[in-house]
Amino acid sequence: MTRLVELEESGPRRLEPSDIDDEKGDIAVCQCGLSDSFPFCDGSHRATRDEDDDATYVYEDGERREVERVVTVDESDG
Ligand code: FES
Repeated sequence: MTRLVELEESGPRRLEPSDIDDEKGDIAVCQCGLSDSFPFCDGSHRATRDEDDDATYVYEDGERREVERVVTVDESDG
């Protein structure tokens, strides 16, 4: 599966000691791109559990839709 996500930040977010979860004692970094607390996991990844391996998805306004992924190659970069 592939997910298309939009991110607006253009630089890093330094982790601070206060980012450590008081109960679990760890920091969970989002890898699915869906978290409302990005870069931290907020559990939104649960929505991806039934994604098909060969599909590409976009999540908008709480809805998931499958999209066709078009990959172009610029042969002048050769
Ligand atoms: S990994 Fe993205 S919300 Fe958990």
